[in-house]
This record gives sequence, C-alpha cells and structure tokens, in this order.
Amino acid sequence: MTTRVGYERLRQVRRAMLGGLSGTVVEVGAGEGRDLADLPGSADWIGIEPSSRARRRLAEKAAARGFRAPLAARAEALPVADGSIDVVLAVVALCSVDDLDRALNEARRVLRPGGRLVFLEHVAAPAGSGLRVLQRAATPVTAALDRNCHLARDPLAAAARTGFTTVSVDRYDVTGRVPGIAWPFVMYEGAISPARH
Ligand SMILES: C[S@@+](CC[C@H](N)C(=O)[O-])C[C@H]1O[C@@H](n2cnc3c(N)ncnc32)[C@H](O)[C@@H]1O
Repeated sequence: MTTRVGYERLRQVRRAMLGGLSGTVVEVGAGEGRDLADLPGSADWIGIEPSSRARRRLAEKAAARGFRAPLAARAEALPVADGSIDVVLAVVALCSVDDLDRALNEARRVLRPGGRLVFLEHVAAPAGSGLRVLQRAATPVTAALDRNCHLARDPLAAAARTGFTTVSVDRYDVTGRVPGIAWPFVMYEGAISPARH
C-alpha cells in the first residue's frame, strides 16, 4: 500500500526511522550530516562520505554530537570488517552511488548475522507511467548537477537481488514540491536470512 503524504510527514517518518536505530550504524552517503541530530547518541555511527566538501561539514556535526569522524570512502568499498555492523543506513544516498548492486553487496558483507539494511530513498515511478519517462529524461541533468542523483532507480529490487529479505517496507507518494507530481519514496528494512549469510 502507498500512502500519500507531504514533505513534512516524510520528515517525521525519517526522524522516527533514525530514532529507532541502535548499535553500530554505517551511514553511506551521509552528506553534510542532516541525519545526525535524529540518531540516538548511544549509536556507534560510522559515516561514509566521498565528497571532501560535504565531509568537512559532516565532521563538524559528528564531533558536536560526540560521534567519530566520518570516513572518506564509497558505499561500493566500505573500510569495515566483514560481519561487524548492526545497521547499514542510506537516506537518499542509493540514488547517488556509482554502482547500486555493488553497494548493496558491500552492505551484505559488513552486516553481522541479524543485522539490517535500512533505507529511505526516492525510487522509480511505476514502469510505463509518465513520471517514469520524466525521471529517465531528467536523470542525465540531475546526475551531472546534483551529486550523481539517479531518479529512476529501484533499490527494493536491488536489495532482493543481493539476497536481502524484506523485514518491512512502506511506500509513500510525496506531494508538495512540484505541482501535480507525487514523488515515490520507499522506507525499507531488510535482513539476510541466517541460511544465506
Ligand atoms: C543526495 S545526497 C544525500 C546526503 C544525506 N544522506 C542526506 O540525506 O542529506 C547523496 C550523497 O551521497 C554521496 N555519494 C555519492 N556517491 C557515493 C558513493 N559511491 N558512495 C557513498 N556516497 C556517495 C554524495 O557525495 C552525497 O553526499
């Protein structure tokens, strides 16, 4: 089921998602640290951010919250030991990675048994829809101008391909930014079943 919401409601959903995380949390594409204020202070946060410009601001915010300094790395090659992480987190970051499948395979590698992949991402509109056509047409521009942002990705399908099973999935059509357009978002939690770990 898909819920139609505005951006303020989506912000509340994001905050609740972040507030529920615990343990060692690897955040890929952490940007300038928008999420840090909403993570529990007890979390052991490991921020991954390739942009040196974003990372400077991220490092300041991390220090202010008592989190460790972020790492200059990419989601496709995490400088983290196998099976050592409780949560791999992405918030509008899987749209920006260079290789979605490699990034999710890395998430799988670093998660401990029972660990979770958690993401909140804008996703591809249904195949055949006008919005999907628009997303595809606009992606060369957004990828070039907005931090490699790809508008028509399907991280749910990629998570399934990588071997994650769905723990929960909530779909949102988010209105209020571009008149007449409801932008599809997905909040997802997935795990690798012990048999496949
Ligand atoms: C749209 S921003 C989102 C930032 C942050 N998560 C937020 O919600 O504000 C996407 C981020 O992913 C980063 N990024 C781009 N390619 C990446 C990669 N291969 N691995 C990890 N992060 C990447 C960008 O530098 C950017 O900071």
